[in-house]
Order: sequence, then structure tokens, then C-alpha cells
Amino acid sequence: NSQHHRELMALHKKAADLYHHVLMNTRIGEPALDYLLSRGLTPEIIETFKIGFAPQKRDFLSQVFQNEQVASNLFNESGLFIQRDNGDYLDRFYQRIIFPINDHQGNVIAFSGRLLKTEDFSGKDMPKYLNSPETTLFNKRDTLFNFDKARKEIRKENTVFLFEGFMDVIAAWQAGITNGVASMGTSLTNEQIRHLERVAKELVICYDGDSAGTEATNRAIHLLSDHSRFQLSIVNIPEKLDPDDYLRKYGAESFRELAMHGRETVFGFKMHYHKLSRNMNNEKEQLDYVHQLLNELVLVQSPLERDRYMNQIAQEFQLSIHSLEEQFSQLKGEQR
Ligand code: UTP
Ligand code: MN
Ligand code: MN
Ligand code: MN
Ligand code: MN
Repeated sequence: NSQHHRELMALHKKAADLYHHVLMNTRIGEPALDYLLSRGLTPEIIETFKIGFAPQKRDFLSQVFQNEQVASNLFNESGLFIQRDNGDYLDRFYQRIIFPINDHQGNVIAFSGRLLKTEDFSGKDMPKYLNSPETTLFNKRDTLFNFDKARKEIRKENTVFLFEGFMDVIAAWQAGITNGVASMGTSLTNEQIRHLERVAKELVICYDGDSAGTEATNRAIHLLSDHSRFQLSIVNIPEKLDPDDYLRKYGAESFRELAMHGRETVFGFKMHYHKLSRNMNNEKEQLDYVHQLLNELVLVQSPLERDRYMNQIAQEFQLSIHSLEEQFSQLKGEQR
């Protein structure tokens, strides 16, 4: 019920304020603050996203809430605590940088906590990011990070940028791209697509440039083509960097240029995607590649675009337009 929801939201709000206070105003938060500043975040952006720090102490939050006599059913349902066999509550998040996750109205409904130093924990079964579990407030499939703050600009531009990570959304915001969101560390869902479709007609996929990001881009393209009417484009981040890495390496101006003017079409993406898994020195693989591209070309609606890509392929592989067109019509016939 909604009284119950309000209480859970108030609890999250209070936790977010506490974590933020620890980060900004205490000695315990200093290493975390230094880390964030060293990653190029400004105090203003830390404020805007209400980033916080959960201290090492395993009962930091649970002590505060117990002193305030928060009801035990709220303790259990908040997802913020883990109950031990003896009944004691331990904090789920400790020694982590805390990113509040808001619902689409801006209420805090969950957290994601990042390890301070991933290298200290490699192989120790400690995920880099730990998220709140699903609760009555927090439905992952339905939530997009930063949608509450980005919605206005998304509407204005009629365009949404889709990033892989929280840090990418935040870094892009700091660089002036304030219409970015991220799915919750899982692949994009139909529910999330529905939310975005209501406010934009263009969607720009801006995932990490590594192979995991490229594969995720390919999956997102298919999901979005099958389940939405978005105009899609892709920003390909070079050197296997992610948007945040790229920003730190090349600066805001260069990132904005890439994000605004370096977008490629879905087919443009496919042209290099299908090369990745092939040895392009091998003649048979070259022809397989051409065949695969022609299959993708059947999906391109615009005759102008098709003509242009056909010419590009013909040139790259020294094939005649005539033979490409013949093969294309065959494929088109098969797919009909
Ligand atoms: P990345 O590994 O690309 O992290 O995962 P990142 O965003 O670049 O983070 P930094 O720069 O190292 O701080 C992308 C997203 O996948 C989810 C998170 O949502 C993250 O932002 N993820 C990643 C998890 O949920 N758990 C993990 O252990 C790792
Ligand atoms: Mn503050
Ligand atoms: Mn990644
Ligand atoms: Mn990344
Ligand atoms: Mn990153």
C-alpha cells in the first residue's frame, strides 16, 4: 500500500542523505571523495547525483535506524540490510561508493555501491558494483538510471542517449550531455524501452567500446528494432574505451563532437561488427561477410541508404554493383 511505500521511500531518502554526508563532510569519507575527484568528478556533480559513501562499519546504517526505532518490517523489506541468524541486522552496503537509484519521479528507491579499489578485491567474489535487491519499491526491469533528471532534456531534444554504466551517464552529464540514461547493469528491457518511447523518437546507443560493449550494442539494436519505432544510431567509442574513459582521455569537447557528429547508422555498425569475428584476409570469409551484409541490407528501408552501402561494399571488395544487386534480390525474395 502507499503508506508503506512512503515509509520505505523515506528510509531510502534518509540513507542517501547519510551516505552523502559521510562522503562530503567526514574523515571516513575522504579516501572515497579523493577517488571520485581523481576520476574527474566535480563537487557539483557529486552533489547533483547525491553520491555517497558507506563506511567499513558493518552496522553503520542499521545502528542509526535502530536508534530511531524504525519498524522491523521496514528493515526487512528495504533491502538495505542482511539479517544474521541471531536476528541482528548488518548493512548490505559497506566500504563502497554509493549511487542512489531514483524512480522516474526522483524518489530514491535503491542503491548501487561501487568498490573503492577493484584491484584489492579481484578474485575475492566481490562484485565491482553491488545493487539493492528487488523490493516492493525497486523493480529493475522498470527502472532507468537518471531518467528522472534526464527526462526534460530528452523531451526537448527528442533524443535519448543510452549508456552502459552509471559513471558514463554521470561523466556525460558533466560534459553537457544531460539526456543520458543507463539500464540497471542488465540488458535493456521492453519495459525500459516503453518508458523511453514515450519521450523521444531518437535513441543513440553509446555503450562501452570493448567487446562486451560491442556485443551488448548488437543485442540492443535487435531488441530495439523488433520492439520499438526508434530512429537508432550508434556512437562507437574508439580504443575499447568507455564513454567515461574517453572523456578523461580526450576531454569534454572531443566527446561532445563524437556523440553529436560521430554517430553511425545501424548498418554502419554492422559493417564493422561482422568483421570482428572474421579473418578478413581469407577470401571465403570475405564473401561470407558480403553475404551477411547483404542479408542485413534487406532490413534497410531507405533506397538511398541501400544504394550507398551497396556502392561501398562493391568498392571495398571489387565486386560489380550488378552482381551485388542480383544477390540482394535473391536474398530479398527468400526473406519475403
Ligand atoms: P562496467 O564494468 O563497464 O563498469 O559495467 P563502469 O560503469 O565502466 O564502472 P567504472 O568506470 O569501472 O566505475 C557497466 C555497468 O554494469 C553494471 C553496472 O551498472 C555498471 O555501471 N555492473 C558492472 C554491475 O551491476 N555489477 C558489476 O559487478 C559490474
Ligand atoms: Mn550535499
Ligand atoms: Mn563495460
Ligand atoms: Mn565501462
Ligand atoms: Mn568506466
